[in-house]
Amino acid sequence: MKKQIIKQTEIFVHNELGEDATGHDWFHVDRVRRNALHICREERQGDPFIIEMAALLHDIPDEKLNETIEIGKAKLDSFLHCISLPNEAKNHIIQIIDSISYKGGRKTVLETVEAKIVQDADRLDAIGAIGIARAFAYGGKKGQPIYDPNINVREEMSLEEYRKGKSTTIHHFYEKLLKLKDLLNTKSAKEMAESRQQMMGLFLEQFYQEWDENHS
Ligand code: ADP
Ligand code: NI
Repeated sequence: MKKQIIKQTEIFVHNELGEDATGHDWFHVDRVRRNALHICREERQGDPFIIEMAALLHDIPDEKLNETIEIGKAKLDSFLHCISLPNEAKNHIIQIIDSISYKGGRKTVLETVEAKIVQDADRLDAIGAIGIARAFAYGGKKGQPIYDPNINVREEMSLEEYRKGKSTTIHHFYEKLLKLKDLLNTKSAKEMAESRQQMMGLFLEQFYQEWDENHS
């Protein structure tokens, strides 16, 4: 029964996100699902079915993929309405998805271990080599420059620059990606983050080295 629901959910998500090129594609969702289940096994905590469902559906109501948040939420609700699950499970899935998104530094206290695990899996996919690739894919789609040495990092921005939302993908590393490791909830995710964090450090080092080559 659960297997069938997972299959149904995979098909729904695949149809909804298959064509996305901003880093929210089906492969992202599949990696988040696999990593979440891996963390669940390692930690020996959480309900694997709820974790898998929430991971599969986590990007469905995302603001970036829908005209409005309300439309996104309605899409998730109407899908859950069509599958045969107890209301308690449906509400838990909705609550996980609602609580894990990182919006402008908003910090929500995660109430369940399932939410902590899915959030960790989603964050792991934003760092390391894959995180780097996703950031540049997203930045390109937004028409944001790769890097501009004249733009300050957020903390040092003038109010005017800040209002204009001026940034680059390299700046996104300092605004978010490099901070994610310390925000992880579980020990297993923190371990997985180590080599990914190193990768980002090396990438930035080499990036600046190449940028500055023959400039002196
Ligand atoms: P998630 O899919 O993990 O919930 P987001 O929706 O916040 O994450 O972002 C999707 C991907 O796009 C992530 O890999 C993130 O790092 C990247 N991204 C988000 N905002 C920016 C930005 N301003 N510049 C570059 N990359 C970004
Ligand atoms: Ni995601």
